[in-house]
Formats: sequence, structure tokens, C-alpha cells
Amino acid sequence: MTKAIFVLSMLWMSVNCARILGIFQNPYFSHQSVHQAIWKELSLRGHQVTVVTPRPLKEQTLKNLTEIDVGEAVSNVSRTSLLFMMSKDMGLQSITRNVFERQYKLAEAILRDERFIDVYNATNETFDVMLAEATPSPILYAVAAKLKVPLVGVYSFGIWSGLHYAVGNPLPPSLYSETWSTFQDRMNFYERLSSTLYYIWTRYYLNFEALPKCDQIARKYLGNDIPYIQDIEKNMSLLLLTTNPILYEPRPNVPTVISMEQMHIKPVKPLPKDLKQFLDNAKEGVVYFSLGSNVKSINIPEKLRKVLIEAFAELPYKVLWKFEADDLPGKPENVLIGKWIPQQDVLAHPNVKVFVTQCGLQSVEEAVARGVPMVGMPFIADQTRNIQRLSEEGAAVGLEHTTLTKEEFKNAIFEVVNNPKYKQNVKRLGEIWVDHPLPSLNRTIWWIEYVIRHKGTKHLRSPTADVSWFEYLLIDVILVLLTIVSLALFILYVAIKFILRMIFGGRKLKQN
Ligand SMILES: *[C@@H]1O[C@H](CO)[C@@H](O)[C@H](O)[C@H]1NC(C)=O
Ligand SMILES: *[C@@H]1O[C@H](CO)[C@@H](O)[C@H](O)[C@H]1NC(C)=O
Ligand SMILES: *[C@@H]1O[C@H](CO)[C@@H](O)[C@H](O)[C@H]1NC(C)=O
Ligand SMILES: *[C@@H]1O[C@H](CO)[C@@H](O)[C@H](O)[C@H]1NC(C)=O
Ligand SMILES: *[C@@H]1O[C@H](CO)[C@@H](O)[C@H](O)[C@H]1NC(C)=O
Ligand SMILES: *[C@@H]1O[C@H](CO)[C@@H](O)[C@H](O)[C@H]1NC(C)=O
Repeated sequence: MTKAIFVLSMLWMSVNCARILGIFQNPYFSHQSVHQAIWKELSLRGHQVTVVTPRPLKEQTLKNLTEIDVGEAVSNVSRTSLLFMMSKDMGLQSITRNVFERQYKLAEAILRDERFIDVYNATNETFDVMLAEATPSPILYAVAAKLKVPLVGVYSFGIWSGLHYAVGNPLPPSLYSETWSTFQDRMNFYERLSSTLYYIWTRYYLNFEALPKCDQIARKYLGNDIPYIQDIEKNMSLLLLTTNPILYEPRPNVPTVISMEQMHIKPVKPLPKDLKQFLDNAKEGVVYFSLGSNVKSINIPEKLRKVLIEAFAELPYKVLWKFEADDLPGKPENVLIGKWIPQQDVLAHPNVKVFVTQCGLQSVEEAVARGVPMVGMPFIADQTRNIQRLSEEGAAVGLEHTTLTKEEFKNAIFEVVNNPKYKQNVKRLGEIWVDHPLPSLNRTIWWIEYVIRHKGTKHLRSPTADVSWFEYLLIDVILVLLTIVSLALFILYVAIKFILRMIFGGRKLKQN
């Protein structure tokens, strides 16, 4: 009897208290704030969570969370800033290559970590699910195959095309271009041509260069007893992406692709005293300026910095500038600088009239969540796309920072502050983004637990993930049909020729 109760309680435990492994290799603050929300919530729900990350939460109260801090190893290999790696002047192919090269190094730095080796190569460690940051390179997914657990991809971004392809999402280059390209839906002929060529190049690059290299790195650390890396990637049980219907054109997703939004948005907290005083006293309005944690204001060209300073000095508003140094030479009277600023809470302050931003996804989400219209100056990655969409929606004004003049910058700020349409549109977007049957974090957790309960999602797997490209595009069928039609035409041609010869050939013979 006691034994039965014990077994029953073990069964109950196995559903209610799962063992979860998470691997998140990128050091970027904004990206990880999304993933942190997930691993924190899972541990609060009583799951035993182990996370490998360069950005641990280090919260003592989270008793069920073990964080393996790989911050040092990761910063050793990735000192190049994203600004130089993904600049929008670079071709798509160079960006793709840069992204992969960096991911190889990051994955190796993590797989080399002694504490992590003890997890993935231990014979006694078992997990129920593995979460992995769904970056372009699938190397670290191989840990799930090695541990024989279902794999859940998680990303604070809308994902790159290769992963859409892997999970079986339709990916016509005529409609969907790369996330770090600037093309929108309704591409013109040149854009479709370029998008198609990039698509073909990607297939080549993945199959013959990137994936074999990823496979080789995975085997070096995990041993040879794993499937080919692409099969592991295609076997992903669930893919959680940070998308929304405004910045990402709606697309047909297989059932295992789920979107999350505003995952890192927290309830408004009181501001530090000096900041609160500055904002409270600025009855004339505040311009909040930040280029985020990847681009950084300190990295921008001298010329641009001069334009910004001169424009700010002439504004009738106060300016709060996230500037990553102690001193800003030539700082105007009305400007307050801060190396680190509690952005979500500042944006919630009623005196903040406009957010001048690089338009990174998390910054945009914060502005939309707090209802602050934007002036955008994109630098890298998806930022150009984001500002294009927001301007189309009438929620922001976009600027080109390489040619920006003082007048242009001031006019953009005046336009957004004085024309009420921008504020109204930002609010409208905010209402659309969060209108779901369940809040985003609850939905995300539900899906991860769904994967745990059913030990994967084989039953939801799309057939598109398994057919080869020529089957998918019906190349074989088209070839057979073409052959039949040409054969029929040929037979018809021969028959007509034969009949004509019968008729006219006979006459010719007579004439002779
Ligand atoms: C840790 O998990 C247990 C169940 O496994 C749960 O009862 C407890 O509340 C959790 N503790 C915290 C601090 O989340
Ligand atoms: C990082 O680099 C420093 C100096 O080059 C070295 O001492 C340290 O061991 C490295 N740390 C890791 C975890 O690789
Ligand atoms: C596996 O064994 C190692 C070393 O013996 C130990 O530290 C670890 O806690 C064990 N893990 C589990 C899940 O029992
Ligand atoms: C696919 O995932 C399931 C668990 O969800 C696992 O049992 C299976 O071995 C995996 N297959 C491959 C090829 O990785
Ligand atoms: C992990 O174990 C595999 C064998 O399963 C071995 O080939 C590999 O070298 C080990 N990795 C490390 C880093 O020790
Ligand atoms: C969402 O999750 C939180 C935390 O687990 C919980 O308190 C809340 O009731 C959930 N909301 C809904 C609508 O299920």
C-alpha cells in the first residue's frame, strides 16, 4: 500500500516537477532578458532548472534554479561588437557568415566549460526537456540529442530563414526575406531576384559549409553517438519566437512554432531619486535617447554625435541620454546622461514624450508597452525593418543616421511630440500585440510543459520538414508531366508529318 502511494507520488512528481536544461549562449543583455523571464518562471513553478548562460539572474530566492555562469568564457571569444558584425551596409551573405563564425566560437567556449561537461557527459544526469537559444547555428542543439530529450528552441527575435526551413515552415523567397534584410513584403522585381539568389546561396552555404562544420564541432565534444546535426535541428519539438503581427509580416507557421511578445516587460517600478526628480520637474516634456546595449551611443561617429548635441541644445525639452561614459564633452544644459537607465520605468513616466531609439526589438516592445511614440535611427540587423513598419503604422518617424542634419533631427522630434497621431498609433499597436487568450508568459510555459507531458511533439510534426526540396517543389512530378506532354507533342508531330507525306508525297510522285 505505502509502496503504491510512493509510486503514485513519484508519477505525480514527474509531471509536476520536471528537470529542465537550458542553454543560452549570447551575451546580449536585451536578448537574454526575454529568456531569463522563462527560466525564472519555470523554476518558480517547481521545476528543477539548470541553465548555462553568460547572464545569470543570481537571485538567491530561486531555490530550484542552478545557473552555470559562462560569462567570462563568452566574453573572451566575442569582443567584436554587433555594430561591426551586422552593419546594414554589409551584404546579407557577409552578415550570415559573420553570425555563423561567431556562433562556432561561442558554442565551443560553452562546450569546453568543465561544469557543463559534467552535465552533458555525466551518466547519471537526466532531463525531461532542453531549451536552447535558437540562433542560426544548431551546434548546441546536439546536447539534446546526446541526452535524448525533446528540444525546445527559444529566441528573443523573429529567427533566421534557415530555422524556418528546418522546422518545415513554407519559405517562398518571393514573400519572406531574411530577418536582417531590409526588404518588406510586396517586394519589387529587383528585391525578389535578390531574395531568391540569397535563398539559393543559403541552401548551398548551409548544406556544404555551415552544417558540416557545426556537426564537426558537436561531435568533437559530444562524441560520435549523435545523429547528423541537421536531423537534430529538424527534430525540434517546439520553437518559441519573439514576433508580433506588426513588425513581422504574418506567415503560415507549422503548429510547433509559437510566438511570444513583451516577455521581458515588467510591472513599473519606482525610479531612482535623481532620475525621478529630473523627469518630474521636466513639465515641458522629455526626449529619451538610447541606442540600446548593442549599438551604444559611445560607438557612434563623431559627426553624428555633434549633430545630436547641437540639436538637443536647441530643443525646448529636457533630454535624458543613455551614454556609456562618465563625461559627454559639450553636453548641453538641458541634457542628463546616465550609463545605465531603467528604461522600462523611464518610458512609463508621463513627461516622456518621445523615445529616440535604434529600434532594436526589445526597445520597440518597451516603447509600445508603455505607449511612447518613437524617432528611429536604425544601425544593424532587423532595426531597419522595424522602423519601416513602425513608420507605416504611423507610430514613429524614421531617420537615416549617416546623412542626418540638425534640422532634420529637430523636425522629427517636433513632429512626433506635437502630432497626436503617433501616440494614438503606438497605443493601438500595444492593444493588438497583447490581445491573446492567455498572457504571453503563461502561454509559453504551457507549451513547454506540453512538450514535457507528451515527451516531444512528434504528432505535430509537419511533413514539409521531411520531404526533399525537389519533392516539395514537385520537380519530379513536373519533369514527368513535361516528358509526357513533350512525348505526346512529338508523336503528334511525327503523325502529322507522316499523314502529310502520305497526302502530298503521293501527289509529288504522280507529278514526277
Ligand atoms: C521548488 O520546487 C518545489 C517542488 O519541486 C516547490 O515546492 C518549491 O516551492 C520551489 N521553490 C521555489 C523557491 O520556487
Ligand atoms: C579568459 O581570458 C583570460 C585572459 O586571456 C584568461 O586568463 C581566462 O582563463 C579566460 N577565461 C576563460 C573561461 O576562458
Ligand atoms: C551525478 O553524479 C555527480 C558526481 O557523482 C553528482 O555531483 C551529481 O549530483 C549527480 N547528479 C544527479 C542528477 O544525481
Ligand atoms: C527526436 O526527438 C525525440 C524526443 O523528442 C528523440 O526521442 C529522438 O531520438 C530524436 N531524434 C533525432 C533524430 O534526433
Ligand atoms: C563526452 O563523452 C564522449 C563519449 O560519449 C566523448 O567522446 C567526449 O570526448 C566527451 N567530451 C568531453 C569534453 O570530455
Ligand atoms: C499566468 O501565470 C501567473 C504566474 O504563474 C499566474 O499567477 C496567473 O494566474 C496566470 N494567468 C492566467 C490568466 O492564467
